[in-house]
Amino acid sequence: MVGPADVTWPGELPPTCLVSGASGGLGRAVAEQLARAGATVVITSRDPGRAAATAIELAGAGDIRAMPAGLDVADANSVDAAARAVADLTGRLDVLVNNAAARRRRRR
Ligand SMILES: NC(=O)c1ccc[n+]([C@@H]2O[C@H](COP(=O)([O-])OP(=O)(O)OC[C@H]3O[C@@H](n4cnc5c(N)ncnc54)[C@H](OP(=O)(O)O)[C@@H]3O)[C@@H](O)[C@H]2O)c1
Repeated sequence: MVGPADVTWPGELPPTCLVSGASGGLGRAVAEQLARAGATVVITSRDPGRAAATAIELAGAGDIRAMPAGLDVADANSVDAAARAVADLTGRLDVLVNNAAARRRRRR
């Protein structure tokens, strides 16, 4: 079976990857696998505290580069702020995992 240890990256440096909705579910799992494969991962949540807690948890599991940022994909201002935060934190973004889904409420 193929795992994170089998991954090779095309560039000189491992990529910086942002995962939306990475505080739980599939987003967290994807973020963890990318980090275990050597990527620098930006863990995002609508709640910056939850993003920080998840990044700390992942970083505690080994040699993992995880950093937190707040991001609500349904809020354009939040998206702009997250882009600025990533530019400040890492200076680059190679991979965007657009995991979070913003659902409209159905009218009854
Ligand atoms: N699970 C499945 O069976 C399944 C099947 C088909 C497709 N999908 C899709 O796969 C993706 C992940 O699924 P999942 O089940 O892991 O999702 P989930 O657990 O419902 O949500 C994952 C995370 O997304 C964050 N989130 C929710 N709304 C957000 C928003 N507006 N902006 C930013 N983050 C937001 C939440 O974190 P915070 O509250 O911390 O922000 C949540 O922890 C979703 O796009 C889903 O539609 C899932």
